[in-house]
Parts: sequence; C-alpha cells; structure tokens
Amino acid sequence: MKDIITGLALLFATTTILNAQTTTDAKVEALLKKMTLEEKIGQLNHLKGEYSTDNYKQNVELFSEIKAGHIGALTAWAELPKLTAWQKAAVDSSRLGIPLLYSADIIHGYRTIFPINLGQAASFDLAAIENSERIAAKEATSGGITWNFAPMVDITRDARWGRCMEGSGEDTYYGSKVAEARVRGFQGNDLSDENTLIATVKHFAAYGAAETGKEYNRVDMSERVLRETYLPPFKAAVDANVASIMNAFNVVDGIPASANKFLLTDVLINEWGFRGVTVSDANSFHELIPHGTAANRKEAAEKCIKAGSHTDLWSMIYMQNLEQLVNEGTVNVALVDEAVRRILKFKFELGLMDNPYKYLNQARMDSTIMHPNHLKAAEDLANKSIVLLKNEKQLLPIDTKKVKTIALIGPLADSRENMDMIGEWTGWGKADDVVTIRQGMEARFGKKGKILFAKGGEAWGKCTDELIAEAVKVAQKADLVVLAIGEHGSQSGEAHSRADISLPGNQEDLVKAISKEGKPTVGLIFNGRPLVLTEVEPMLDAILLCWQPGITAGNAVANVLSGDFNPCAKLPITMPYHAGQVPIYYNHLNSGRPKDTTNIGLRWVNGYMDIPNEPLYEFGFGLSYTTFDYSPITLSKSSFSRGDSIIASLKVINSGAYDGAEVVQLYIHDIAASVSRPIKELKNFQRIELKKGESKMVSFKISEDDLKYWNSQMKFEADAGAFQLMIGSSSDIYKQTNFELKN
Ligand code: BGC
Repeated sequence: MKDIITGLALLFATTTILNAQTTTDAKVEALLKKMTLEEKIGQLNHLKGEYSTDNYKQNVELFSEIKAGHIGALTAWAELPKLTAWQKAAVDSSRLGIPLLYSADIIHGYRTIFPINLGQAASFDLAAIENSERIAAKEATSGGITWNFAPMVDITRDARWGRCMEGSGEDTYYGSKVAEARVRGFQGNDLSDENTLIATVKHFAAYGAAETGKEYNRVDMSERVLRETYLPPFKAAVDANVASIMNAFNVVDGIPASANKFLLTDVLINEWGFRGVTVSDANSFHELIPHGTAANRKEAAEKCIKAGSHTDLWSMIYMQNLEQLVNEGTVNVALVDEAVRRILKFKFELGLMDNPYKYLNQARMDSTIMHPNHLKAAEDLANKSIVLLKNEKQLLPIDTKKVKTIALIGPLADSRENMDMIGEWTGWGKADDVVTIRQGMEARFGKKGKILFAKGGEAWGKCTDELIAEAVKVAQKADLVVLAIGEHGSQSGEAHSRADISLPGNQEDLVKAISKEGKPTVGLIFNGRPLVLTEVEPMLDAILLCWQPGITAGNAVANVLSGDFNPCAKLPITMPYHAGQVPIYYNHLNSGRPKDTTNIGLRWVNGYMDIPNEPLYEFGFGLSYTTFDYSPITLSKSSFSRGDSIIASLKVINSGAYDGAEVVQLYIHDIAASVSRPIKELKNFQRIELKKGESKMVSFKISEDDLKYWNSQMKFEADAGAFQLMIGSSSDIYKQTNFELKN
C-alpha cells in the first residue's frame, strides 16, 4: 500500500513538473508568435545599465531603446529606483511589455563578501561553499539581480594568470564538485523562488589555459586534454541544470569561443543536451575582428549566431546586424527563434512575466543585506579557507601565557585599501565593511596582552629603509612577530597577470630584516594566486596562507592564530618552488624518464638543472594544530568486474592535542592504459571532524566510472588491468595499495 502511495505521489510530482514545463513552453511559443523580428533580436541584446555610453563606444539612450523593445537584459550597475524605472519602461511602454533581466558578477558575495573563490576552495567544504552562494543569491536578488555571471569554473594550472583567484584551482574532479555546489547555491531547487537566480558557468572553454598565463591569450590543446581537464566542470554544471553559460574570450583551436561551433553546438547542445542560454563575454562578439576571424561586425554576428551563441553581452552586434542577415537569407530565422525561446523561458521561470517587480523590493533588501547570519557564514568560510603551511616547534596557536606582546607588522596588517582583504570581483562590497587584521587581533589578544604595530611598507609592497627600520624596532619589543604580507587584493583578477609571482615589491627585504632579530615569526600571506615563497619560507617559523579572506578577515585570522579555530584547509592549487615551473600541477604525466628512484644515476631525466621538480607545497597539502595518523588501506576485495565496485577503507586517528578536521583524499593511477595517464588523480575526498584521541573508519566506494578516461579511440571508457590507489592527507602524503579491474 505504502509503495502504491509513494508511486502515485511520484507520478503526481512528475506530471506536475512536466505540466509546468509544457505550460512554460506553450507560453513561450505563444509570445514568440506575437513578436516581430526586431523585437526578437531585442531580447538577445544585453547592454550595460548606467554606463550605457560605453556599449561598444556607442551612445545608447537606454529608456528609448527599452521602450522600443530593443533590450532583453541590462547589467545592473544602478540602485533599485533606477532598476525599477527601467523595468517600468519595459513593461508599460514596450509593445509586448516583456520585462528585463538584470545581470551582475556576484562572484564571492554581493555585499557580504566571502573569501575569494580560490580561498573558499581550500576549505574542501562543499556545503559551506554552497551556502555562501545561497547567501549571495539572497542578497543579490534582493537588489534586483536575476542573472548572475558566476560561477567561474575554469581550471587553473598557471599561477601567473590573475583569474586563478576566481576559480577552484587546478583539479578537475574537485572543480566539478565545486561547480555543482555553486550552481545549487545560486539556483536552489526552483528559479521562481524569490531568493534564487540564474547562474552562469564561465568561461566556456579552456580560458584558464591561456598561453604564458597572459590574459586573453591563445589557448591551444588536444581534444583529449580539453575533454579530460577543462570541460568536466562545465558538464557537471550542465548536469546540475545550470541555466546559462558564458563564452570565453580566447580562441580554442584557432576559433574564438564565441564563434566556436564545436564547443557551442556539437558539445554543449548536441552532446550534453544543454537547455539554457549562452551569453557572450563582454564584447567578445566584436573581438572576432581583432582575433582576425571576421572582417566586420556583420560577419561576426553571422559567425556567432551560426555557431550557437544566443545572447550578445554589450557589443550590440546582434541588434545592429541580425535583422539584415535574416532578411537577406544569410541567417535562418530559426536560429534567432531558438535563442529567443531560451531567454524567454527564464523570464517565465523566474516569475518575471507575472510580476516584473518581484525582485525590486527595498524592504527586502534592507532586511537581507549583511544579515548577522551572513556575516557568521562568511567568517566560518574564512576560518576554513586559511591554510597552515608551516608550524615549526608548534609556534601556533599563540600561547598567550607566554606571549604577552605581539608585533603586528606589514603593509597588509591594517589595510582595507586596494581591495585588500576582499579581493577583486566584490559586487556591492565595501572596503569600510572590512575588519582588518589589526582590528581582529586587537579584539582577540588586546585585553590580555599588547599589540604593537608597524606598517613596514607602503602600498604595492614598497618597503622603504625607514619603514623597515621602524618595524625592526617594534619587533625588538615583542615576544612574537606576526608579518602580514603578500599581494594587494587588486593584484589578481581579470587582466592582472604577473610574470614575477614572488612577494610584490621588496617585501622580502622586510622579512629578512625582521628575521635577523631572531624573534619567533608568523607569516600571514595574502594572495589571489599561488605565490613563490621559496626565499622567505626559511625565515618564517609559521606560515598561514590567508588568500583574500573577505570582510571578516581580521576575525578569521585571529580565530586561527589564537587556536579558537584549528586550521583544516588544503591547497586547491600547487604552490610552485620557482616561477619557471609553471604551469605546474600534481596530476601530470610521468614521461618516459621520470626523475625518481627508478632512474637514480641516470643523467638524462625529466627535470631541470637548476631547480627541483617538486613544488614548495603540493596540491592537497595543509597542516593542522593536531596530527592525523592513517592506518594501512584495506580493500573489500582486490579485484572487481565492470558494473561491480570495491570499498577501500582506512582508519584515521587524531593523534594530537586538539580537536580538528581533516580532508581525507583518494587518488587513483591507471598503471598501463591506451594513452599515458596522470601519475595520480583525485577521485574522491571526505572532510571529517575528529576530537582529540578519536579515530574514524573512512571508506570510499570505487567503481568502473571512477576509472574511465578518454582512450586512444576517444571513447570515455575504463581499461581492465591494475590500478594504484592512494589515500592520504595530500597529493604527496598517503598510504597505497593496488587493485584490478577485470573484464
Ligand atoms: C569577464 C566576465 C564578466 C564580464 C561582465 C568580462 O570582462 O571576463 O567574467 O562576467 O566581464 O562583467
């Protein structure tokens, strides 16, 4: 009986979803029938709100264009009253009254700014990451935003590229999990909920692989690497029902992503069944001309629509050329209709067609923005993002019984300028909201002890002799020195590539001068990308990698320094030993002459003459104030057949003196395959919490799906044979065993 009721309920639910879909589709078709070609193209035209004169250097009078039905969406750089006025113009004065979508880049928070995305990724806490996007969506929708240009899911293996800060690092498996979590966070279960909005995965595709790490540069790679490394996070987002995808600026195999039929139609629509809408990157349709793949804007329009690009962000190329292209028979109107259908569907699904002012509500905004729960979540994620890279003689947590006077030194110690602490892409975030490191530390340590302060350097890491001398004097009076150094928030992000990825300016001089004093010294490193810390590492007794931690920076850093929070983050990206190693990533191929124990004494090996192959800190690495011991791995059986699975288990013991969390990581290596395979690949992980002295069995299920790869026939399949299995606390610290997949 229970089964029948469950079955009926399921049938009812499925029918309701199908009906809803059919009704939306029917409504879209009915509206489409009423539209002129000009109005249809208007829906594909996405312009800048407020900075309208800069829509590809052409003056646009927004109100009259909206009334003419020439605009489908606006990037919302304006306050609610203006957004409401534009919406009113669309609804009351355009012929069909179709409301506008409002877009924005809400990358790591709307007003409550969370750690930068790369820092969030270090938490390996998917629930906390999803929650941060839930909060961002609540705040953004209360500010009228219905279309978000996030998450960025580009895999980044090159620390020179400034946009490392926006992504989840170098790993494809983990990047895919984070992509799903972020899409769920933004879109929730139902787009019609007033707290959810359209998410956009970007930048499709392979933007993170720009040659030489230089922004907007050429991308060239085999289809195998594209499919294996760069596409899976997009596929994961599509499977999680992401509503929108943004094209990349770069060329892929010589063809700009915005006009790349292989990516947009063959893979995205035909293979993956994407039902949402694609959006160009800012003016990227126009950029076909400087790329040298279109002679003029009209040809660019033709190439983009034919490749499968749906909407035009800011270049007005569709608005100005598509009508003529259709009328003269160059472009089939069916392509325009298909793009319009997709955009209209979201206007219905968001509920805008029924209530165009749904997201424009000052009272909701006032009660939502910077809600105390949001600040708490931002602090929690900041705590979880800080990576403990070094802790000689257990210097941390600070023992306040012994340490009475702390010297807090460094250009970033009390700074909220230059996006310090919040990083790039900060939506509606404000520098004034930031709790600086000095404020956080004074609040936490100031009552029982003393915090002395010296800047040590100006903006951009300019450490003058005077400022260094003053800092040294302050250090001399202290029991412990905390150095806040690294990059300004505005030294990473779009168009912020750096060739020299060591500490900016001459901050190394500051570190050297302080270290000569022989005081125990903690380095707080702020960064939007992996930095080369090889020079300063030996001079610091403890190192905390803080990224840009968001508006609660000072609290989070104080929580970790004091031990109120035991660090548990792991590196989602390799920290190079030397800039000459980049792109460097843990899941590389072995080469025929690996520089390892099998080749001792052999001179002609895969390495450098002047630097080691190894990074300074590997992917997945991160210490805790406690210690975790791993037992050997046990397997439920040593081999399994296709369709079957095995369970790998081990015991993790908290053997230290603090409660803590550990990220247990599982890596697999296909020993002999039809193409050379990475020396190891992350295939699963679990974040577990253990009280001191506690132990837990951790188990992972491994099935054929975990072993699949793009083989020599470009089929996604698993080979029978032996596999190496590694489980541990980083990509380099693990227990291992072998198992076999049988035919
Ligand atoms: C960036 C995109 C962003 C867009 C709109 C572009 O320059 O590449 O990531 O969404 O601007 O702000």
